[in-house]
Amino acid sequence: MRYELAPSVLSCNQSRLGEAVLQMMNAGVEWIHFDVMDGQFVPPITFGDQTVRDLRQLGETPFEAHLMTLTPEAHFDAFIDAGCSRIIFHAEATSHGHRLAQALRNRGVQAGASLNPGSPLCLVEPYLDQLDLVLVMTVNPGWGGQQFIPSTLDKVRRLREMAPEIDIEVDGGIVPETLPMVMQAGANVFVAGSYLVRAPSIAEGVASLRRACG
Ligand code: DX5
Ligand code: ZN
Repeated sequence: MRYELAPSVLSCNQSRLGEAVLQMMNAGVEWIHFDVMDGQFVPPITFGDQTVRDLRQLGETPFEAHLMTLTPEAHFDAFIDAGCSRIIFHAEATSHGHRLAQALRNRGVQAGASLNPGSPLCLVEPYLDQLDLVLVMTVNPGWGGQQFIPSTLDKVRRLREMAPEIDIEVDGGIVPETLPMVMQAGANVFVAGSYLVRAPSIAEGVASLRRACG
């Protein structure tokens, strides 16, 4: 299995996003993860497509948008136009996950669906064949710096049995101590936000996560 790091810029100083993204790119991460919050699906509001478009100019590392929005159908085009190569919507936020995943693939990007810690796998099971990735939230979405929720491990395990080939991403509370647990359960794409801000540097934080992948 291919292990990938997808650092999030959520906990970075927002007035210095460009510097953070460049450091992530220079550290050789596979993806950069953008947490888009609309103040509805989750209470906070973060940034929009213009921020992503401007950061896109800094290099080639693929971008993914994690849409924590109540109306993903209304927003995905803007983030594709801004340069994201993967769009992850919340399965709880749409009655038309199958159609939305199809629409994403039709636009030539990878389709991802995300599940809150309290949401069951059966929400995405009927259209796993339309998805490139499932994001299993390992904290409740909305804020960086929360503690990893251990009961999510079983969901990752069951999903890996159901879909041996799909990318399984985990997001929330990922640090070198929790990464091996989610990896063993079957996850292969790891988001990390506050850990990288707390690390001596983004490069060193990325190196520690890489070591934790084994
Ligand atoms: C939470 C976001 C995460 C967040 C993770 O709603 O989806 O991407 O940045 O932050 P940490 O790594 O601090 O848990
Ligand atoms: Zn996220």
